[in-house]
Amino acid sequence: MNSSTKYKIASKIARKLYNRAYAEGYRKSDDEISKSEIWQKMSALLEEITGNFQYPVVALDLGCGSGRYFSCLKNTRLLDGIDISAEMLEKAKNPISKEKITIGKINLIEADFFEYSFDKKYDFIYSIGVLGEHFPFDEIVMEKIAKIIKQGGVLLFTTVDPEYRIKSLKRKIAQFIYSISFGKLKEYLGFRLKNYFAADAKDIREILSKFNFEIIKLAKIGQKTYPHYFCLAKKL
Ligand SMILES: C[S@@+](CC[C@H](N)C(=O)[O-])C[C@H]1O[C@@H](n2cnc3c(N)ncnc32)[C@H](O)[C@@H]1O
Repeated sequence: MNSSTKYKIASKIARKLYNRAYAEGYRKSDDEISKSEIWQKMSALLEEITGNFQYPVVALDLGCGSGRYFSCLKNTRLLDGIDISAEMLEKAKNPISKEKITIGKINLIEADFFEYSFDKKYDFIYSIGVLGEHFPFDEIVMEKIAKIIKQGGVLLFTTVDPEYRIKSLKRKIAQFIYSISFGKLKEYLGFRLKNYFAADAKDIREILSKFNFEIIKLAKIGQKTYPHYFCLAKKL
């Protein structure tokens, strides 16, 4: 499967998944999630990163969804929130803790990240619950990100830990069939298993160094049932 087909299918699946009902449920869950330890940590980190800039920040929330993290940004003069789902963006107009938002201007962009032509470079790009989740974390993604982040800019993202993907018996069987199959079947299984999406710590290091990012922090986060990697990096 060539990469453009891979991304087109991933985008189609995401567009379908994040429909009105899903967006409704997602926004409702924001209240609960914002009390969780992981959200609190992420929130403190976003506040620290943006607050540490010596000037007002221009930021991008890649796959912003319902705008769950908008209220955490400080010292931000412009935030672009891009998302493929119109329904999620509708929710982002009324995000959680709206009254605490200090961002100068929020620009919501309904678009597929891979198809959108950005007209600026960002001081800070963050993407939570998107990379390696709805589309692969790979060189294609990083190339695009590297083009739109300023030198010295900060990147924060999460990816799904590929170990998670091989846990269940059903997955193990499918994984085995994948390993011995070829051609169209292998492509199909690879996609269903999201093997094409997987990136472990070694992959993340390799891909980031290729695009001249220095890793500040790379760690596993999240529940045992659904572990993620968390990465903070700086564009050199
Ligand atoms: C799990 S949600 C995360 C939302 C938000 N970042 C958060 O942490 O609450 C994933 C989001 O990625 C968006 N998405 C998936 N594929 C995308 C693409 N190709 N371009 C832009 N957004 C995309 C989905 O519509 C969805 O809102």
